[in-house]
Amino acid sequence: MASDTLKATLVADKSFVIAEVDKRIYGSFIEHLGRAVYGGIYEPGHPEANAAGFRGDVQALVQALNVPIIRYPGGNFVSAYNWEDGVGPLELRPKRLELAWRTVEPNEVGTNEFMDWAKEVGSEVMMAVNLGTRGVDAARNLLEYCNHPGVTYWSDLRRKHGVEQPHRIKTWCLGNEMDGPWQIGQKTAVEYGRLAYETGKAMRLIDPEIELVSCGSSSSAMPTFPEWEAVTLDHTYDVADYVSLHQYYGNRDNDSANFLARTMDMEHFIKTVTSTCDYIKAKKRSKKTMYLSFDEWNVWYHSNDADSRLEPWSVGPPQLEDHYNFEDALLVGSMLITFLRHADRVKIACLAQLVNVIAPIMTEAGGAAWKQTIFYPYQHASAYGRGISLQPIVNSPKYDAQDYTDVPYLDSALVYNEESEELTIFAVNRHLEEGLQLTCDVRGFEGYRLIEHIVLHHEDLKAINTARDEQVKPRQASGTVCKDGFVETLLSKASWNVIRLGRTNSSNC
Ligand code: AHR
Repeated sequence: MASDTLKATLVADKSFVIAEVDKRIYGSFIEHLGRAVYGGIYEPGHPEANAAGFRGDVQALVQALNVPIIRYPGGNFVSAYNWEDGVGPLELRPKRLELAWRTVEPNEVGTNEFMDWAKEVGSEVMMAVNLGTRGVDAARNLLEYCNHPGVTYWSDLRRKHGVEQPHRIKTWCLGNEMDGPWQIGQKTAVEYGRLAYETGKAMRLIDPEIELVSCGSSSSAMPTFPEWEAVTLDHTYDVADYVSLHQYYGNRDNDSANFLARTMDMEHFIKTVTSTCDYIKAKKRSKKTMYLSFDEWNVWYHSNDADSRLEPWSVGPPQLEDHYNFEDALLVGSMLITFLRHADRVKIACLAQLVNVIAPIMTEAGGAAWKQTIFYPYQHASAYGRGISLQPIVNSPKYDAQDYTDVPYLDSALVYNEESEELTIFAVNRHLEEGLQLTCDVRGFEGYRLIEHIVLHHEDLKAINTARDEQVKPRQASGTVCKDGFVETLLSKASWNVIRLGRTNSSNC
């Protein structure tokens, strides 16, 4: 090996505990938007559809991701949604103009159908209430319909609709992106804070077991961030358990080094929201810690031009259909790493979204369901990122990008699973031209051996997958060794890596 090879080191130790990873950071999101529901999870008449019209092939891919929680039904959609339109006999359900995305909502899928589907795929649902055009009354009625056992108007209506047992939905979002001028029924921070508090108060009276998410800013770039958080939390702190964060990144100017450094912004966003929560905690002399629900995150920009050309008012048009390339998968990997390193405060995160709409899973009408590039880091993190998040002590060469300075080439997180006795090293090499020689000190994990080193790499940063050609897919890396308490590996340039160590299934060591 040439002496000028880029080198990085990492120390892993069981005592460097950040927190237990809340598995809900591997959540996702299905909105009534584009082909997410109609033509995505639900396509009656498709050869793989079940009796209720839900596609089995899509369900299998969702199950392969092992998604613990799915946010529903929006998103911007929820801010003008009448949930009552989506329950009861199908033939009585109205078709509505859907104003957020300018489509037609047929209401063939509503609360009960979605809850059934979520149960099938093994996910909890995180339900959002409409605080745009509606308020306390609609929210409390929906909660009563979903969670109350019976003998009241709304709970008996659910039973009349064929759902005897309550859904027992635990996590509820108090509206969506209420700071955004695009939101139907946008609010000022004070208006939202008051409404969210009163709504949450009523909801808790019905079901004290629920958890509530107060709306944070729509992104770190909002002009009202972080004042929005400070003002709204001043109202909602006592009733809410989480504050939401949303963030999407793009590479519009085709500067990949800068694009891969975007998690520096995400890191800053998380730290600022955390500090704002703690400021309100101090101001209120509260004993309660507010947690973060990063309930929308992803890369989103590829589809913007196509969307602007779509005609309005159809059912399930191809909106927000980003075709993800290899570099997008690297950033998604880094975003997951960022959540792991903030496992002490980020307890929920939802990849937005799950099917067809800015999604890891795509479908063809009447045809195949297939995996985008971003499917893989998400799948790996969900599979191997459960346990205790440990702080990696990293020494890495750095670079300066257009918007960020001192960006470490090595972006990494560690997860130790006590039960399975496994340690997983997640690592992105952000260097676009050179491999990174990585030495990991794992002496604290005596007797551990290398299970495997999975790598996602493609020579072309712009390579994409299609229904018939999966160009970007993981493979086993060769040459990684674990010896005398050290892992030695060469991380390919521009690569996502999952290095798994354990006491069992040993090989290579
Ligand atoms: O996920 C797509 C949209 O992005 C959501 O509807 C909205 O909440 C956000 O602006």
